Amino acid sequence: MDARSQDIAGHLLGWYDRHARVLPWRAPPGSPAPRNDQDFPYRVWLSEVMLQQTTVAAVKDYFAKFTARWPSVTDLAAAEDAEVMAAWAGLGYYARARNLLACARAVAERGGTFPDSEDELRKLPGLGAYTAAAVAAIAFGRRAVVVDANVERVVARLFAIDTPLPGGRTEIRAATDRITPDARAGDFAQAMMDLGATVCTTRNPRCLLCPLSGDCTGYRGGAPERFPVKAPKAAKPHRQGRAFWIVRNGKVWLVQRPGKGMLGGMRALPDDGWSARGDGNGEGPIAGPWASGGAVQHGFTHFTLDLHLALYSGNEVVSLPPEAGECQGEWWPLDRLDEAGLPTLFAKAARLALTAMGEVD
Ligand code: ADE
Repeated sequence: MDARSQDIAGHLLGWYDRHARVLPWRAPPGSPAPRNDQDFPYRVWLSEVMLQQTTVAAVKDYFAKFTARWPSVTDLAAAEDAEVMAAWAGLGYYARARNLLACARAVAERGGTFPDSEDELRKLPGLGAYTAAAVAAIAFGRRAVVVDANVERVVARLFAIDTPLPGGRTEIRAATDRITPDARAGDFAQAMMDLGATVCTTRNPRCLLCPLSGDCTGYRGGAPERFPVKAPKAAKPHRQGRAFWIVRNGKVWLVQRPGKGMLGGMRALPDDGWSARGDGNGEGPIAGPWASGGAVQHGFTHFTLDLHLALYSGNEVVSLPPEAGECQGEWWPLDRLDEAGLPTLFAKAARLALTAMGEVD
């Protein structure tokens, strides 16, 4: 390791010893990965899957709920799919929850122990390069190069890397590799993440508080916030869709979405297939008549959606099951709708419908 890299690692770890955030899945700074606590790797892995694309603040309650209900990976492996999907509702990126279960079951099959190397972790279902590196470093103290969006920002600034992303990622990774120490790899990775989240922030970085300002080429250049440079984004396409609100005897018709695809496996309002078509002209599960209930907006990774709500306004619903289309469905009590585990898009639509019905204000 060259002298500059050694300085950077030393300054960062010293800062982490004083300022590490206290987080429920985390060992205190400086403590070696616990060797005989089987649930520690489980908690680290669970937190890392939850934290992808999501903030620490949003994850904390979910982490508490999951670990109270499923304290070990074998408990999670034994859970019903629908229970886990419902517990995940609101965290978004639902493929993560499906992969979570697949991975928990693969680990349970190996006796409930996670492999302790990056290569072996990478072979588990749904474990990408980032998660394998993070778990190897944090749960097992292995040296691994851990690069998430926070680390990317810190390193791009530290070395004033101005190759636009995504192309610049190769350079950023190589620079992260150079500064990653052999010892305390888990602390180092988490220190980078904490620094990115609390000091080296996207806007208005707090360089005067930064332990690395003396090592930082971006800071010396006077405009650290310019890094990382990003290639201009194409505008997101805008889609239209319809969701159908059908109430009978105080219950609403909910469906289980097919396992694969957008919001796969989640409970939902029936809709017009917007995830495949997006023109807002698809059919509902029954003929109608429908009244307009307004619309909700939602942003997905690759498109935004206006979901128009159609309220069933006929006198009686004669035949939903079993002719309810390809999705399985059920009549769900309106007064227990918050227990249905609706993903945010449909929770917003349901709230709008309840408002239209005068059930909430
Ligand atoms: N973001 C992703 N993983 C994290 C971790 N272990 N600590 C803090 N922020 C994170």
